[in-house]
Amino acid sequence: MADKGGFIGVFDSGLGGISVLHHLVRQLPHEDFVFFGDSAHNPYGEKTPEQILGYARQIVGDLVDEGAKAIVIACNTATSVAAAALRDELPSLPIVGVEPALKPATEHDPHRRILVMATPVTLRMDKFQHLAHTYGSDSEIIEAPCEGLAQRIEQGELDGADLHELIENLVGRYRGGVDSVVLGCTHYPFVRHQIADVLGDVPFFDGGDGTARRVGSLLAKDGMLNESDAPGTVAFRSSLHEPGVLDRYQQFFEMGLGYRRVPQKKRATVPGPV
Ligand code: DGL
Repeated sequence: MADKGGFIGVFDSGLGGISVLHHLVRQLPHEDFVFFGDSAHNPYGEKTPEQILGYARQIVGDLVDEGAKAIVIACNTATSVAAAALRDELPSLPIVGVEPALKPATEHDPHRRILVMATPVTLRMDKFQHLAHTYGSDSEIIEAPCEGLAQRIEQGELDGADLHELIENLVGRYRGGVDSVVLGCTHYPFVRHQIADVLGDVPFFDGGDGTARRVGSLLAKDGMLNESDAPGTVAFRSSLHEPGVLDRYQQFFEMGLGYRRVPQKKRATVPGPV
């Protein structure tokens, strides 16, 4: 049964999914959102598929019990592993996942070298191999498993020299050798500028915008969009019960995407265009 009143539950292995939440809030300003970060189990990208499916089931079950009318899996890794199983198990619940933005990248500039940065699990799963096969026939797809990067971003402190060094070690060898970059993990848009410092000024693509558009069209089609004119709300939850975790989520939400430490105007609570 269509329900316009519930909230949209959004989850990730941690704060990365907030990069998708940015797009959702901008495109669906009258919806209420609950964001759940599974920071206690971060990083998913280095767990087994069975573990990830177990976490995802638990989180979705809790969000639904609380009143979620739809779920956004704001995690490429969890989408590859769990989206199909969750849709089978909960056929009446709209579940939208995020996937590496190979389609927009190849459409933007075909016949080019596209670097896909993602977690080791995302790149190993059939879903990505299928995407690469579908959209990569005219382009060269270069896979860069970025072990440790999501985990490092999860800690905050995005100015650290160690973060620059990590990105350099993971992808520095591709400098000058790729034409565009797909950020295939929802944590990575927060360090887009730091990645550009290493790879140069190439176009970047991520799945956040497309995911938010898909959520909007699916809910509109099923008559499930909130009809209120009032601004929606955003609440943050975490599996990691440590001081400062929810403040960090809020900080990432407020700072917008592509953090760079330069003097900048104070941002509004709802971030502006990326
Ligand atoms: N943010 C997640 C993704 O989009 C996963 C990061 C992780 O926990 O490894 O893949």
